Amino acid sequence: MRWLVTGGLGFIGSTFVRLLLRERPEVEVVNLDAMTYAGNPANLADVAHDPRYRFVKGSIGDPTAVDAAIADGVDAIVNFAAETHVDRSILEPEAFLRTDILGTHTLLEAVRARGIRRFLQVSTDEVYGDVPSGASREGDPLRPRSPYSASKAGGDLQVLAYHATYATPVLITRGSNTYGPRQYPEKLVPLFVTNLLDDATVPLYGDGLQIRDWLHVDDHARGILSVLERGEIGGVYNLGGGNLRTNLELTRVLLDACGRTMTTHVRHVADREGHDRRYALDASKAHALGWQPQVAFEEGLRATVRWYRDNESWWRPLKSGEFLEYYRRQYAHR
Ligand code: TYD
Repeated sequence: MRWLVTGGLGFIGSTFVRLLLRERPEVEVVNLDAMTYAGNPANLADVAHDPRYRFVKGSIGDPTAVDAAIADGVDAIVNFAAETHVDRSILEPEAFLRTDILGTHTLLEAVRARGIRRFLQVSTDEVYGDVPSGASREGDPLRPRSPYSASKAGGDLQVLAYHATYATPVLITRGSNTYGPRQYPEKLVPLFVTNLLDDATVPLYGDGLQIRDWLHVDDHARGILSVLERGEIGGVYNLGGGNLRTNLELTRVLLDACGRTMTTHVRHVADREGHDRRYALDASKAHALGWQPQVAFEEGLRATVRWYRDNESWWRPLKSGEFLEYYRRQYAHR
């Protein structure tokens, strides 16, 4: 079997590629990655020479690159490739529409033209929008509120429309906020951890009482594999960690793990525009497939802090150049 993974140099994608190479010896992996700022070859340096792994550089929005990646035939496509950061989407939305909607469309066309047997779209709980109480279920209406989540919702709707119209064999996973090793340091956890390790302050938006549902990246990758192998074609599956925490609570754990304090190291800054207050997922459909998150939250978070402490050579080069320019644009005015 040969599977195409897109965005395999990213955070969740690279974790998934490593999982496949380790636990599915019958599967060869082709990784199509555009190597944007978040696609980091270091994320798969340990498997780059595996004979079951092949890398193709290119964007999912480029039909020629997609053709090159699937030229030898593939049995499945798992689409991790996406622009993913809400704050960047507020500054510059266009790339989100190009990759998350048009890129998904390009892949769907390839699946249709080649008769590929599975297409799994990696999506997000953010498509449901703000959830003041309860937990989102797969049939709930999509009410995205940022350019990022609206782009992901647009991708999801294309995927479901291809299933209805062309009987394209699709699956969708909607994961909750993911944390763990190798996450680009723009997101809350790696940004805060690397700032704290550097003895710098962390910018907490608004009152810090926003709630997210946290999932370890290893659990997320396993959930995607479960859905790919056992999900019902045409189905949507929520992958929620079941760890609802306010940003303030999470920040406290990070401060403690880094030996810093709220008064010295937290900078309260202006809130994100249109900030969703709360996300929560009902993941019982995925649980019924036999998937359960394994990593206990506080332990996983502390292990993640240790990983960033022990792997400074991974993140230090990322916090320069493009990142510093982004950081200035994003935070200077707050
Ligand atoms: P983030 O990691 O950007 O994920 P998402 O917006 O997709 O949930 O942010 C997680 C939460 O942390 C979100 O409520 C926004 C908040 N946050 C901050 O308070 N400060 C920051 O610098 C960042 C990046 C996020």
